[in-house]
Amino acid sequence: MSLNNKLTKILIIDFGSQFTQLIARRVREFGVFSEIISHKKIKINQIINNNIGGIILSGGPLNVYQNDKFKFDKKILSLKIPVLGICFGHQILSKELGGRVKKSKHREFGLATIKKVSNSKLTKNFFNKDNSNNVWMSHADQVSKMPKNFKIIASSKNSKLAIIENTKNNYYGVQFHPEVTHTNKGKILLRNFVFYICKLKKNWSSKDQKLELIRDIKKQVGNNKVICGLSGGVDSSVVAQLLSKAIRKNLTCIFVNNGLLRKNEETQVVNTFKKKLRINLVYVNAEKEFIKKLTNISDPEKKRKIIGNLFIKIFERYAKKIKNVKFLAQGTLYPDLIESRSVTGSQTSKIKSHHNVGGLPKRMKLKLVEPLKFLFKDEVRKLGLELNLSKDIISRHPFPGPGLAIRMPGNITREKINILKEADYYFIKALRDNGLYDKIWQAYAALLPVKTVGVMGDNRTYEHICLLRAITSEDGMTADFFDFPKGFMQSISNQIINNIRGINRVVYDVTSKPPSTIELE
Ligand code: XMP
Repeated sequence: MSLNNKLTKILIIDFGSQFTQLIARRVREFGVFSEIISHKKIKINQIINNNIGGIILSGGPLNVYQNDKFKFDKKILSLKIPVLGICFGHQILSKELGGRVKKSKHREFGLATIKKVSNSKLTKNFFNKDNSNNVWMSHADQVSKMPKNFKIIASSKNSKLAIIENTKNNYYGVQFHPEVTHTNKGKILLRNFVFYICKLKKNWSSKDQKLELIRDIKKQVGNNKVICGLSGGVDSSVVAQLLSKAIRKNLTCIFVNNGLLRKNEETQVVNTFKKKLRINLVYVNAEKEFIKKLTNISDPEKKRKIIGNLFIKIFERYAKKIKNVKFLAQGTLYPDLIESRSVTGSQTSKIKSHHNVGGLPKRMKLKLVEPLKFLFKDEVRKLGLELNLSKDIISRHPFPGPGLAIRMPGNITREKINILKEADYYFIKALRDNGLYDKIWQAYAALLPVKTVGVMGDNRTYEHICLLRAITSEDGMTADFFDFPKGFMQSISNQIINNIRGINRVVYDVTSKPPSTIELE
């Protein structure tokens, strides 16, 4: 993987922690660019030649003496770049510099109180008035012997070496996770590292991003023609608008109606992009083609692969018609790449093939333009506003590429699609009518592959169960169910059952992610 070598950045070396992305987000929230790279892929030359102002070593599930399971080139520590080790990162830093790590007698998971031992630049304004602070720990091992020339900055009851530093070489280690919100004032500690220790300046605003991305697109595609898969969702809308600012006359957006969209979606997208934003848009009605291929397919991964492949085929077909198209633009985001295991290649296991990544056929003929692939969703939203897209588009809930297909476990039929479109329509409308839409990160209706008995009027019914899901989240990587105000669920359940034939029972999904995922498949 190549790094963005223009901006001075914080480099995060990922050892497989579930919080690595959070570290990157925090740094970017401070207005400083950050990138993640897997411990397996990092090469010392990349660090020397890439404007790296600070290195953060992430946490991870490993033990520092499992040498065959991870890579760490000790030379990284002699480049005179400040280093902050977090949890496993703290342990590997200590071990490599001559300290020792051993299994903790008392494992610490959850909140722990640390007490200040000495002053440090790293902890300026971090401790409470009584010189203590609550931090979030998650470790089974701990540093048992500090390397030479280090001093203790803070200790907890079970971790004497909770924060250590060597100011001469700018090495810092913390046993806890400052990146998670449970650590009180964790952001202050990270901010101190970025600004006081690495001495970085802000270089990452939506405006800078916009200008840089437009420049990059121009450079990448030159005078060639580009097609852009537009779904009308936030990501592809932002990509389309970026491309239109960069290379308007060589851009054709293609909107494929795969028959698995929300109710009236196709009309709304055409109205917004073709009529209002005057983007060159081709509307392709491929409903029949998709439904034919999906008939009798119930395996979630097969559905995803079929849809992903067909999308690309259709793009290629239209690319041929437009002639001389060399590039395909997509709204792939950083988390999409990470969840499909292609950015860092670290230990995180593959969960699903997101269709704009995992579903791409190997023989793909077009080159990809993916201007958002280093951005998180909230950064994309800010960028969209910077590009003058309306708040309506920007604040839309995410909608997955495979659409309603993955909200309908089991067989896909036209009848089920029609029922589901209606249920989703009523649910989303009720959220908007009740002022709840913007409080929720994502919401949808799904149709479960079971029928149950009900009674309506005096008659027996035997119809589908509709599952409603509404979650709050920061970036879709983790999520909690949304706690609706009293009465809302009853009201929407009545509306759905009274208005839609085919549903006689409504249930609400109260699982978080993990252990569930946001979509059902
Ligand atoms: P999961 O179900 O993996 O979803 O927890 C996380 C977020 O990703 C969306 N999602 C997708 N988006 N193509 C997309 O563009 C896909 O194949 C895909 N699958 C899931 C999902 O809606 C949620 O916002």
